[in-house]
Amino acid sequence: MNRTLPPELFVNFLALSSDAVVAVDEAQRIIFFNKGAERIFGWTAAEVGGRPLATLLPERFHSTHTGHVRGFAAAHGAARTMGERQQISGRRKNGEEFPAEASIQQMHVGGEQIYAAMLRDISPRQRAEDALRLAVKARDDMIGIVSHDLRNPANAVKMLAMSVIAESAALPEPITERVRVILQAAVQMDTLIQDLLDVTRLETGRLNVTARRTPIHELMHAATTALRPLAEGCGVGFEVIVADDVTDVLADPERITQAISNLVGNSLKFTASGGHVSVNVARRGGFAEFQVRDTGVGIPPDQLAHVFDRFYRACVELTARRHGAGLGLPIARGIIEAHGGSIRMESEYGHGTLVVFTLPFAD
Ligand SMILES: Nc1ncnc2c1ncn2[C@@H]1O[C@H](COP(=O)(O)OP(=O)(O)O)[C@@H](O)[C@H]1O
Ligand SMILES: [Mg+2]
Repeated sequence: MNRTLPPELFVNFLALSSDAVVAVDEAQRIIFFNKGAERIFGWTAAEVGGRPLATLLPERFHSTHTGHVRGFAAAHGAARTMGERQQISGRRKNGEEFPAEASIQQMHVGGEQIYAAMLRDISPRQRAEDALRLAVKARDDMIGIVSHDLRNPANAVKMLAMSVIAESAALPEPITERVRVILQAAVQMDTLIQDLLDVTRLETGRLNVTARRTPIHELMHAATTALRPLAEGCGVGFEVIVADDVTDVLADPERITQAISNLVGNSLKFTASGGHVSVNVARRGGFAEFQVRDTGVGIPPDQLAHVFDRFYRACVELTARRHGAGLGLPIARGIIEAHGGSIRMESEYGHGTLVVFTLPFAD
């Protein structure tokens, strides 16, 4: 589609390029060195004109191709296709070595072989990548510590507290009561650790979901049985309604139970005694649609957009003391999306909140 343009224009293009453009003749002497090359290598065109290409390469590569430098491409020893972008090492005038991405072309001009290289200094990018790699490693190390070194003792406390409670008949009531508090704290700690692990897995794409055909009633029974006594304890009405035409869904029952517990748990946390929480399941197109609705405090409109961000907690005076770590919603979303469903939240501040999510049907 390009018009035929005068050759001088191309020379100007090359001169303008912020990448280095370097050409050498058959004897590997530098015959073209643009502004980008001057900036990257620190030499002026006048200084390097006629010098061997080796001037631009780290010394350790010199001996390997004395007399037969096939341009930058050979810098790393490996055989490479001409014209393809590849990573090489360059050397600046001050001796500093730097990583670069280059593409090299062999050309025949006026009966002469010419090698032209376009080269981009990628050291800033590489530095950023190195920093990122370090950060990811630090995070993975941290996860290792959290998952093993922190989880094991939390579990030990949990198990031992449970075993003491099991023998509570032999103990005075005030002691048993304190052990119950210890157990509750250990359970909270374990839940938080698991949540932290889950958000990290979400970010690294390692959140495992094994969806299988699951009858809806089985799923809802598993997901809500433990929530009824919780609702009762909060003095909040709780009901689950499943439409007749909703059949088997594709779900990982354990993960969906986790998501529903998070959502209903939120509704119970943010709804005062006397309020109401419901879960409705209905058919909507190819999906089963779940609506978790409460008559609680709601979320101010300007904060609604952030509730799925990790560690985000809406700032509502009444609820401040009930916040968790702000991981429940991002995890729930991760779980639902891993099933191929979607999730969203609507809220009327002061009146209540609705979370809608979908799961695919099994057929
Ligand atoms: N049903 C709800 N009613 C009112 N606010 C809610 C509701 N669900 C979530 N929120 C708000 O969204 C925030 C994030 O929820 P979540 O990720 O589950 O974190 P957490 O429950 O640990 O605080 C909560 O802190 C709360 O401010
Ligand atoms: Mg929560």
